[in-house]
Parts: sequence; structure tokens; C-alpha cells
Amino acid sequence: MIQYKDSVFHLKTKETSYIFRVDDSLKLNQLYYGNRLEEESLDALSLHQVIQVGSSVLYDGQSMDLKCLELSEPQVGDYRNLSTDIWVNNQQACDFKYVGYEMDVVRESVLPRGRGRDSRLVVYLMDEKTGVRIGLVYDVFYEANVISRYVLVENVGEESLLIENIVVNFDCINDDFELISFHGGWIKEAHEYVSDLGIGRTVIASTTTSSSNQHQPGFFLRSKVSDSVYGFNLMYSGNHKSVIERTSNEFVRVVSGINDEQFNWTLKSGEVFESPSVVMTYGVGINNASSNFHDFVNKHVVSKVWANKERPITYNHWEATFFDYNEKKLLKMAKVVSDLGCELFVLDDGWFVERNNDLAGLGNYEVDKKKFPKGLLSFRNKIVDMGLKFGLWVEPEMVSIESSLYRKHPEYALGVRDKRFGRNQLVLDLTNKDVRDYIVSNVRTLIEEYKVDYIKWDMNRHISDQESIVNNYGKEFSHRYILGLYEVLERIFGDNEVLLESCSSGGNRFDLGMLSYGPQVWTSDNTDPIERLKIQGGISRLYPLSTISAHVASELSQQTLRKTPLSTRFNVACFGVLGYELDLTYLSAVEKKEIKDQISWYKKYRKVFQYGKFIQNGLQWQVSYEGVTIVGIYQTLVIASPPPHQRLRVFGLDKNKYYEVRAKAQRVMLDRYKELSKHILPVNLNPEGKIMKFTTEHFSLYDQQQNLVASGQLLESGIWLNNQYLGTGYHKELRLWSDFGSTLYVITERK
Ligand code: GLA
Repeated sequence: MIQYKDSVFHLKTKETSYIFRVDDSLKLNQLYYGNRLEEESLDALSLHQVIQVGSSVLYDGQSMDLKCLELSEPQVGDYRNLSTDIWVNNQQACDFKYVGYEMDVVRESVLPRGRGRDSRLVVYLMDEKTGVRIGLVYDVFYEANVISRYVLVENVGEESLLIENIVVNFDCINDDFELISFHGGWIKEAHEYVSDLGIGRTVIASTTTSSSNQHQPGFFLRSKVSDSVYGFNLMYSGNHKSVIERTSNEFVRVVSGINDEQFNWTLKSGEVFESPSVVMTYGVGINNASSNFHDFVNKHVVSKVWANKERPITYNHWEATFFDYNEKKLLKMAKVVSDLGCELFVLDDGWFVERNNDLAGLGNYEVDKKKFPKGLLSFRNKIVDMGLKFGLWVEPEMVSIESSLYRKHPEYALGVRDKRFGRNQLVLDLTNKDVRDYIVSNVRTLIEEYKVDYIKWDMNRHISDQESIVNNYGKEFSHRYILGLYEVLERIFGDNEVLLESCSSGGNRFDLGMLSYGPQVWTSDNTDPIERLKIQGGISRLYPLSTISAHVASELSQQTLRKTPLSTRFNVACFGVLGYELDLTYLSAVEKKEIKDQISWYKKYRKVFQYGKFIQNGLQWQVSYEGVTIVGIYQTLVIASPPPHQRLRVFGLDKNKYYEVRAKAQRVMLDRYKELSKHILPVNLNPEGKIMKFTTEHFSLYDQQQNLVASGQLLESGIWLNNQYLGTGYHKELRLWSDFGSTLYVITERK
């Protein structure tokens, strides 16, 4: 998978080649990253600087500004955004020369790396003047078509080094690229933005000491000419920064790593610093590039215990109760959801002392006996007796001023001096070993004592105060916080089978770092399915459906006040790890039946939804696994008098085979029709009356029923769906969609 011949390194994955060489100046030139090549001459792959451009600075007779490099350095005439900034006694390391390479080196790492790589190359470069040695690490993941890169800085001299910046560098030539990146905020995470790659520098960064809901670390460059796509994602949960620079000479440079804005690191003699990994892929078309990332996460990021394992269907009571609950109320709910088919009951925020609102209690984790008079183990046992697994919410990195922990150890908190609160809470100082030990022992005890199957690990504020009371780490603080977090997660979850779902006010920390410890993430506090189309649509460009936790909530969204049908709430949430979070108290008999049917249907196709190959085609989502394809089609706003030519297109089928296409049966609640029901019922009912209410609770209509057979060839070009509602009455084969309607179709080979 890795060849070295005549100064050229060729890294091969199943479908891609990544090629670079050592040039005459002992610098590393990137030559090619794209579809797989076999043998090519160096001449054919190289850029040729035969004559120099005016005003360029020459290094060994060549302009460094006009080369594609694997590592960029200051003071050599490369004026693009640089990947190294390292100092020894006020001297900058600025002339790294190739000194050799090693293959398949095994080394322990303090940061998460992809597991189970197929091959590894480390190429070493040395700046003689300062005694700084750099190792460029390339991990090859053959089947996933991923190359994961990181940088080592080794202090092989006597003096301490000051690292101001060290990031991964990738250069290529502009192919009329557009940038696809993901941005947002609370309840509007990871919206996809497509923009022309403008001249100059585009920065995607976070400074919240999390990967952030503002700017996702992952992004793509897509060629408008060839549809070639380069994907980049950073395996890191803290402050990140990627700079994408397009020069007037149409070179494109991508650098990515820890954000250097509030960072430096002192490296003593003999020490090594490691940058986070930049995970790179290449594919033709965004769906193929995404699919490579999905394979990589499923096979090489999530722990072995959870890889390819079906995830339980959750019920979480948070939106139904907030802090207002007790054991009796929850057990009643648990009984209902276990009858409906849920498999995991998650006890969310509010179960410990002083926690009746978000003003107090974080840090304690001592069970509130008023809510659970017989203790938590007794509650857990009752849950388990109903056939459910037991999950628990914690927010271990945080502390409330009103808590026994803070009263005893105020020095455990950050920002104690200025008390800058976020959601009324302070952040614990994870750079302090005592704090880390406290968290580890606390959470481990909870897991053992209450026999917990699942932990929801929340983190509900950004970090502002970058200063520890006990340690003076200066600009090393935020990276040390993340190293502390990873250590804590490894100590708690590294050797057990507890299912960890990370959460940070929803998707404030949806990244490859967190996924290395827990296989799923609470994607957003927004459970409105129409908003989720954007949120899940964006996040699934970078992460597989098995990581995307998605719940069916109430008809009236708590986040947007939008009302959506139960079918659409499910049809969106099933493209991920399904759960329910709605208030069960007021569910009608028909709604319960519908939920029960949804759950058993999801169980039948769970592997398809969690591990299938996922494709987005506008508002049609498609997932395929072992011969079953499911397509979801969504409508955001109703079209008046819709024409009968909405197309269902299915990709990746065998063009010569025939397939059955079946619309999933789904109920439409009668009260959607109110006074219109007179057109379908034999009697005229008062739309607000008791009979209408009773009828709605017990009877429903069925939405579109459409079954047909078509070839893979035709399905790719598209078949026509039945009409939508047209203002002229009911028919059981109509799509009764209106605003926010949707349907799922199952496509299987004809027997
Ligand atoms: C965050 C989470 C929610 C819920 C609350 C509890 O907002 O994202 O799902 O757990 O905290 O306080």
C-alpha cells in the first residue's frame, strides 16, 4: 500500500493514490491525490518551473511559492499560510530537510487516532540550525479510501522549543473548486454552505474549547469541472482551525489543526508533541467522498465493541418533563414505551440533589431521595424488569456554585475569579489531575452502582476562562483541557461496554475525537424534523448514520412551534439512531399504534438505517444495505395543485435487475381534515366536537399506497409518484402531504 521508489512515495488505497516526492532541495513535493494510479513517470507527475516568475524568491533556484508541499515553513519564500512556526531561543526553525522515513512504526499516542490502519509511513525532516525534527505521519485505511495525517515535533536539541503552530499541510492546484462547509449554532447545527472558493484565505475555526456548533471542523473541496471531491476532517474536540487559501496563481493550500490563536506549547529537550490527525479522502461526487468518511468512522473510529452493532431504540423523557418528575411518573412512562417497543430508558437531567432547575446541583451526583425515595438502583431494577436497558444523564465537566462539590473545592472550577456563567454553571478544570481523578471515580461509581448500560455525557456551555487556578499553563490551557478530557474518557469508557452518547447542548461537540470514545452523538436539541433535514443533512456529509442520534418529539415543536405529522417526525429520525422524546401522556390510541408500528418497522430495517450506504439527492435521502434500499422523500412547503410528476430516483441498483418498490404504510390523523372530513365520512361532524375528537383518537386514514416493479435502470432515471392532495377529495393512494409531508419507500429485488 505504500511504495517508495526513486525518491517518490506512493500511498495507495482501494480507489485512490496519494503521491509525493523528495525533491533535489530535500523538500517534500505533493504530486498527485486522486483516482488510483499504478506506474507513472516522475516527469509526468511533476510541476515544471523552467523559468522563474518575476519577484519570486528563489530557494535552490526554485520558487517555494509555486510548489505543492507536504510541509510549509517560514523564511524560504513561501508566502502562503504556513504549517510550522517553531522557535528556539528566538530563532525560528525554517529549513526542514528530508532525512529519512520509516514504515509501520507503532507508537502510543495521547490523541485519538484511527484504529486498525492498514499501513503507516513516517517521513522525517530536520532543521539543523535549531535541532527540531519533524515527523510527517501517514496512516493508510485501504478499504475506506482514507489517508489520515498528523505531525510530530521532536525536540532533539538541548534547549526548550516554543511551538506557536504546527498543522497538517496539503497543497494542490485549483480545479475550479467550491467549498462545502458546515456552520450554525444552538438548534441550527451543521447547516451546509456551498460557496465558490474565493481568492485569498478562508478560515474555518473555533475558539470555544470545543469543536463547536458554530463551525464544524470537517469540509470538502469540490471541483465544478470534474466533480472530484477532496474531504477533510480533524480528529479533535477542541479549538480547531483550517485555512483554505487560493492564490492568484491558482494554487490551493489547506492547513488544518489546533487553532494557533490561543495556543503555544513549550517542548523540553527529548519531548515529542503530536498534532491531531487530519482525515483526508478523495472521491468523485460528494456522496462518494461522504461514504468514504462514513466507512472510516464505522470501521476505524468507534470502539470495537460498538462497531457494526445495532444501537438500541431510546426513550428519553427530557422534552416531556424537563426537571419536573419523580419515580412514579417515570415508571408510568417506561411502561408505555416498553409496550411500544423501545429498548432503552434514559434518565435525563434532574435526578440528583439540588437539581430541580439548572441553577444548582451539578457536580454532586447524589441521588435525590425526594424524586427516588427507594434510591436509583431500585428504580433501575424496575426499568430493567420491564425489559428496558437503563441509561443515565451526567454533565461531569461542569459544576454549579450551589453544589457540595463547589462548596468543598472551589479551586476545581475555572473562572472562579470572574465567575462568567454559561447556563448558570462553571467549568471544571480538566488540566488538574485531582479534578480528573474526581470525575473518573464519580462516573465509574455511578456506572457500577446503578448498573448503567448507557451514559449521556453532556457539556452545556462554551469555555471562556482559559486559566486554571492551580496550574499556570498559559496558552497551553485549552489543548491541555482536551488532553485531560480524552484521558478521562479513556479511563472511564476504554475498558467497558457502556454505550456512551456524547452531547453538548446537542451537537456542539460532534467530532471525530468524541466519536473515538462514544459511538453516537445527540445531534441537536432541535427535534423539529424540518429543521433536522438541514441538521442531519449537513452532519451526515461527514459522519455515518450510526453516529446520528435522532428522536421523534411532540407534534408541536418545542424549538420552533412548528406542527409536523407523526409520520414525518419518524421518517426523518429513522435516518440515524432512532429514539422517542415526546410527552406520552396525551398520545391517542391511534398514535400509539402508529408508534408501535414505526418501531417494529425500524427494527426490521435497523441495520440498513444505521450502517447502510447513505446518499443525499436534494430532499431525497437514500440508504442501502445488503440488498435493501430505503428512500425518504420530504416536502418542506406544500405546492398548490401539484402536478403528477414528482420523481423517485434510486441510485446504485443493478441496472439489469427488477425491483419491487413499496411505499411504507403510514397513518394520517383524522383531525388534520377537520371540517373537510365531511367529504370522506358519511356524516357531518362538528370539527371541534367530541365525536370528532373520539374518532380521531381511534381511527385514522392511510397515506399514499403505491407498489410497483421497475428495473434498476429505470429507477435510476426515475419513476413517477402518485399525486399529492389536490383540493378535490380523498383517495387512499393520494399522498396527503401538505406542509412537511414525507414518505418512505422500500426497494428490494423482485423475487
Ligand atoms: C442539554 C441537552 C438536552 C438535555 C438538557 C438537560 O440541553 O442537549 O438533551 O439533556 O441538556 O439539561
